[in-house]
Amino acid sequence: MLTQKESQYNDYNKYLLNTYKRHNINFVSGKGCYLTDEQGTEYLDMLCGIAVTGFGHNHPALVDAAQQQINKLWHVSNLFESDLQASLASKLVLGTGLSSVFFCNSGSEANEAAIKFARKYGKGRSTIITTLGGFHGRTMGSLSASAQYKLWDGFHPLTPGFKYVPFDDIESVLHSIDKHTVAIMVEPIQGENGIIVPSKGYLKKLREICNEHNLLLILDEVQTGIGRTGKLFAYQWEDVLPDIVTSAKGIANGLPLGAVICSEKVANEVNPGMHGSTFGGNPVSVAVANEVIDLLTEDVLKRINGIGETIKEKVLSMRSPLIKEVRGKGMMIGIELVDKVKAADVCSKFLDGGVVSVTSGGNVLRLLPPFILTKKDVDFFIETFADILNSYEYLKTEIKVDKKADRIDNVVQFVSNRKA
Ligand SMILES: Cc1ncc(COP(=O)(O)O)c(C=O)c1O
Repeated sequence: MLTQKESQYNDYNKYLLNTYKRHNINFVSGKGCYLTDEQGTEYLDMLCGIAVTGFGHNHPALVDAAQQQINKLWHVSNLFESDLQASLASKLVLGTGLSSVFFCNSGSEANEAAIKFARKYGKGRSTIITTLGGFHGRTMGSLSASAQYKLWDGFHPLTPGFKYVPFDDIESVLHSIDKHTVAIMVEPIQGENGIIVPSKGYLKKLREICNEHNLLLILDEVQTGIGRTGKLFAYQWEDVLPDIVTSAKGIANGLPLGAVICSEKVANEVNPGMHGSTFGGNPVSVAVANEVIDLLTEDVLKRINGIGETIKEKVLSMRSPLIKEVRGKGMMIGIELVDKVKAADVCSKFLDGGVVSVTSGGNVLRLLPPFILTKKDVDFFIETFADILNSYEYLKTEIKVDKKADRIDNVVQFVSNRKA
């Protein structure tokens, strides 16, 4: 029998399925915006467990909520009423203007439920239009909704009933609608596909199309939601009301929880026995989620937006020809790099410099920092990034300042004008 230490370090890959390309770092604790590995090295966490720990690690109010609940009650099933669930559901309903909530455990499950609810609403109409490059999860339904060949490889047959259109393309949506269509399902910003922000008014146009054709508008806010873009949900940047919003990731700051928030007309189609989950809405997760929503005050949302803008401006003002584009909203930021600089290599260099980040689709460095990031943390990130970009000095003569870099100059100009 191996000791725990031996099994942890020597045989890591022997006992775990090879589903992830993991970094060789074992984090053992976290406080605020920082993680600590077993050697005691600290890292600034600009990843937040992929848009999950928005309020950082070990947040006192969240630890307290979890501890209190863990000492009281862990699990009873969804066969009984729960004040905690009712309280969280009412906050989500008030925060969205929708009608009622189903709790599950993850983003994929939330999207599975949304797909089922939409089909039930359709009464025979079952096709859902989703977007190329979109990501909705890894379970068969949510995977089939995620139009990315690399995710599908080896898993056919997919669940039928999805049609795929380019993201941010209204004409293609209009061409795809037929008598079988019941819903349009999109991410307000494509997260896994490289932080792709659609044109202003995209969601509004989708809403109009849905109204015209009696379709449901399903917004996957698993990554964009719970304050990440500087609003409770990203769709609130536009004047629209979806029929279904799915949420997970940040909702319980790291404990597993998913939520499907539905309009009245969808809720009216849902009956006992039609859908369910053993663990969904677990009391400990829900106790923490209640605190998370309370912590997301207007001031905090403004702060998220402000710090996000500061990060973008500071990255742009580095005027690096190695950066093609900086995009995103609030604290969901994508930095597209030129082809010669691989985002994955930049992430590794960030780790060496004490910063945790991640890549996204294309050649994009993705930043999903904690909402409690300070100016000092931002400066540390920028200094580390500058050092990394300097390590590619040898490339600078090779990379001509192209049109996009020119555009960056314009943006920098715009930013400095605004400050002046
Ligand atoms: C937009 C979106 N939807 C769904 C999911 C799947 O969520 P989960 O991994 O919790 O199943 C993700 C995860 O990255 C996501 O970003």
